[in-house]
Amino acid sequence: MSKKLYIKTWGCQMNVYDSQKMADVLATLGYQQIPEPDGADLMVLNTCHIREKATEKVFSDLGRLRPHKEAKAAEGQKALIAVAGCVAQAEGDVILQRAKYVDMVFGPQTYHLLPEMILNATGGVRVVNTDFPVESKFDHLPGEAQAQGPSAMLSVQEGCDKFCTFCVVPYTRGAEFSRPVRQVLDEALRMADSGAKEITLLGQNVNAYHGEGPNGETWDLAKLIAKIADIPSIQRIRYMTSHPKDMNDGLIAAHGAIEKLMPFLHLPLQSGSDRVLELMNRKHKVADYLDVIARTRKARPDIALSSDFIVGFPGETEDDHRQTVELVREVGYSSCYSFKYSPRPGTPGAAMGSIVPEAVKDTRLHELQAILFQQQHDYNKACVGKIVPVLLDRKGEKEGQLQGKSPWMQSVYVSAPERLFGEIMDITIERAFQNGMSGTVLQQETPSTAEKREAA
Ligand code: 5AD
Ligand code: SF4
Repeated sequence: MSKKLYIKTWGCQMNVYDSQKMADVLATLGYQQIPEPDGADLMVLNTCHIREKATEKVFSDLGRLRPHKEAKAAEGQKALIAVAGCVAQAEGDVILQRAKYVDMVFGPQTYHLLPEMILNATGGVRVVNTDFPVESKFDHLPGEAQAQGPSAMLSVQEGCDKFCTFCVVPYTRGAEFSRPVRQVLDEALRMADSGAKEITLLGQNVNAYHGEGPNGETWDLAKLIAKIADIPSIQRIRYMTSHPKDMNDGLIAAHGAIEKLMPFLHLPLQSGSDRVLELMNRKHKVADYLDVIARTRKARPDIALSSDFIVGFPGETEDDHRQTVELVREVGYSSCYSFKYSPRPGTPGAAMGSIVPEAVKDTRLHELQAILFQQQHDYNKACVGKIVPVLLDRKGEKEGQLQGKSPWMQSVYVSAPERLFGEIMDITIERAFQNGMSGTVLQQETPSTAEKREAA
């Protein structure tokens, strides 16, 4: 009899990918995923620790799962509750102490050990596994990944050695590791076979990729992208997230040379002030970033730019903030993420003085976001009247709607029949919003329906 698995995922694309991998491992044990926790035999919270109040959110969600576990117990069955991901990694024992009904807590490097952990937890042993094993989890994950649909995510790199002073990733995800080329290519081929048209290469520092090639030589991300571009049915390639210091010449050139590499670059800068970048240990200056941007724009003039910014890092003055605002105006972004700094326990930033008051952070974030949101809206507005190819990779929010991404990573909504799901269609853009655009499908007929009509 199949068992029911509920997974809730927070945070970045890496976590979404990890949840998929957990589901793959658990499928081999007979677990089928369900969208709600009702009746689940195993409930997993895959958590993210990167920004504020992560731990509290986990505890409040655990409180919501508890009645489901108790309902199962009333039927004489045992449901397991697990906390995975970066909060688990950072707060393992605390979770087990505070929530006695939690059965398993495990960090991101241990998913391949799930069968063993479940066996222990079912036997009544509470499991904490937050080690960084020497062997790689990638070596043990099942080869037959479940189909992810037309747009698939492929993790090629994990962890980070950069140690930005605000960031928990080097502590929760461990040292930088690149998967060997062969493994990545095999997975890309499997994704293509199961219908993927787009592959997004993921990693905390994906452009630092340096995987072992088939002959023992090291491949960088540009070389990997070029090889994946050779798979005929893969029509779009993306990658995220990158660090400005690792944007090498080859990768910049790839944006001009490889048509399947989409014209979108998410390159977090965090601050427009050299002084703050140094406090953040970002290891580069604003001018280096601007140089990378200029060269990438030269290689691919229509490239859409995206970034992450943090306001209110300890020591950030009004003048530093002005420099961030000016830089944003100078570059012009298609979309950005912006955050108030929140101290993460154990990181150097958390011990720094010159803390920026919360109210000042609020004002700075508000000012920055007003500009970024306006830029995003303007970027979308500039597409009105244009014909844009969109990979329709999900259902829209409304009945009869499909949704997808433009090459420049804008969300596009259209009324379209379900048979167009998974197709790349030309869409005439009619309306633009801050967060996306809507339009109509230019040519709704697939060749087969056109043939049928002609034959009739
Ligand atoms: N406070 C605020 N924002 C943070 N980020 C990472 N750590 C913190 C923190 N402590 C943001 C950065 C990063 C993005 C994924 O999250 O901008 O690029
Ligand atoms: Fe965190 Fe910096 Fe590494 Fe990005 S580069 S994951 S912000 S430490």
